[in-house]
Amino acid sequence: MDFHVITLFPEMFAALDAALMGRAQKGGLVAVHAHNLREHGLGNYRQVDDTPYGGGSGMVMRPEPIAAAIDAVAATRPGLTKILLTPQGERFDQPLARELAATCAGGIMLIAGRYEGFDERVRELVDREVSIGDYVLSGGELAAMVVIEAVARLVPGVLGNAESLDEESFGAGNLLEYPHYTRPEEFRGMRVPEILLSGDHGKIRAWRAAEALRRTARRRPELVAGRRGKPEP
Ligand SMILES: C[S@@+](CC[C@H](N)C(=O)[O-])C[C@H]1O[C@@H](n2cnc3c(N)ncnc32)[C@H](O)[C@@H]1O
Repeated sequence: MDFHVITLFPEMFAALDAALMGRAQKGGLVAVHAHNLREHGLGNYRQVDDTPYGGGSGMVMRPEPIAAAIDAVAATRPGLTKILLTPQGERFDQPLARELAATCAGGIMLIAGRYEGFDERVRELVDREVSIGDYVLSGGELAAMVVIEAVARLVPGVLGNAESLDEESFGAGNLLEYPHYTRPEEFRGMRVPEILLSGDHGKIRAWRAAEALRRTARRRPELVAGRRGKPEP
C-alpha cells in the first residue's frame, strides 16, 4: 500500500525507515512518500500561511499551496484516498484502521497541518477528516505516522504472524489482549501462572480467552457492553 504525505517537514518521516515499517518498505509491501508543501508555496518566500481574516492569534494555512500539492500528487496517482489530519476529524481507532486497509487499495494521501490549522475551504478538497485523539498536537506529522503504521501493519505480509492481528487488543473480538509472560518463571516474587507452564494448549487457550475478557471488563467496560452475557467482575 502506498502512503503519500503532504507536509512542511518531510524529514520527520525518516522515522518510518526503521523497525517493522522499515522492513515493510524494503520488502515492497508498503511505500511512504513525503512531499514538501513548501515547494508549492507562494512567491519568492514560498509562503504557505497567512494571518486570519477577522483577526485573532496565529497563522492559518492558505488553501492554494495545499490544493496545488494535492493536485500534483493526485495527477500521477489518481486512486489515492485523501485524508486531512485535524483534531476535529472522525476519531481514528482500530476499526477505522481496518476500514482504510480494506478500502484504500489505491493508496492514501495524508495532509498534515501546522500553525492554527487549515483555511476552512481545504476541507472541500479531501475525502475525509481524521483525528488521532482528543488532544492538540503542533502538527499533523505524528498523526500521519500513527495512521500509516496502524494501517500498514494490517497489510497482508507486513506482520510475520497474521494470527496475532486477531488475538491482539481490538482484534477479532474487540477485547484487550490477554497478559503475556516470558522467562524467568519467577521475577521479584511474581510467578508465571502455572497454566502457562502446563503444556495443555486447550486449557491455555481457555485461560487466555477468560483473561482477555476479565481484563477488558476491568479496564474498558464499554468494549464488553453489548457483547452477550454479563461482564466478569
Ligand atoms: C495546532 S494544530 C491546529 C489546531 C486547531 N487550531 C484546532 O483548534 O482545531 C496544527 C495541526 O496539527 C494537526 N493535529 C493536531 N492535533 C491533531 C489530532 N489530534 N489529530 C490529527 N491531527 C492533529 C492538524 O493537521 C492541525 O492542522
